[in-house]
Amino acid sequence: MSRRTKIYEGKAKILYEGPEPGTIIQYFKDDATAFNAEKKAILDGKGVLNNRISEYMMLRLGEIGIPTHFIRRLNMREQLCKRVEIVPLEVIVRNIAAGTMSKRLGVEEGEVLPRSIVEFCLKRDDLGDPLVAEEHITAFGWASADEIEEITNLTLRINDYLCGLFAGIGIKLVDFKIEFGRLAVDGGHQIVLADEISPDSCRLWDRETNKKLDKDRFRRDLGGVTEAYTEVATRLGIIKENGNNSNVVSIVKNED
Ligand code: C5P
Repeated sequence: MSRRTKIYEGKAKILYEGPEPGTIIQYFKDDATAFNAEKKAILDGKGVLNNRISEYMMLRLGEIGIPTHFIRRLNMREQLCKRVEIVPLEVIVRNIAAGTMSKRLGVEEGEVLPRSIVEFCLKRDDLGDPLVAEEHITAFGWASADEIEEITNLTLRINDYLCGLFAGIGIKLVDFKIEFGRLAVDGGHQIVLADEISPDSCRLWDRETNKKLDKDRFRRDLGGVTEAYTEVATRLGIIKENGNNSNVVSIVKNED
């Protein structure tokens, strides 16, 4: 791994040059950060779980015709992906009020929204990823009007599919963040889903108890973060139920 060329190191992932032109390797770290990296911790096994969960999401979405950057998982912490130019926007979909929407607009956490709402934030850590309007996006050239339309259409399809997928395993998809990239094709480019979909980037609540099964456990010091991620992976059928909650330990120990 040390011979690889690092392209970029983010808060939870490292990107390396891939083995062939036009590919990259995403390495999932155990690092957890919140509040723009003001709060940090290492959570043993989180990277392994997110790699597996994100692989699962990308494969299922690919099957319903969502173009993604995912090629294949290489090992317990790495996946091979197509190299894309990331659109500098965090696309957030909300089905139930929580987090910054509740804070910003005074909508009580847990209130089901009248319809799913798509928000765009500029990817700028130094500015705290501010919410931006389509006007800003097109005026500053972060994406074209056509790209925004394509991204919004794909995002709503992804939300529909994921709401159903999570409902099937007793989980409410409260909200989530996704990113898109431009993939070079035939002299032009295609918008594809990039980055990851994992409990780091989603709010997931148990349907019956509203227990949080996502990164809010870390943000709000609720404890049991990797246990919650393990529960999501278990309900998805990615890791086997063995009754003693040691799944994550065993998959981490068996890392290839
Ligand atoms: O914090 P906020 O309520 O805006 O987050 C909305 C959703 O987007 C949450 O699921 C959160 O985990 C995700 N998110 C993210 N990365 C960010 C900001 C938000 O994954 N930088």
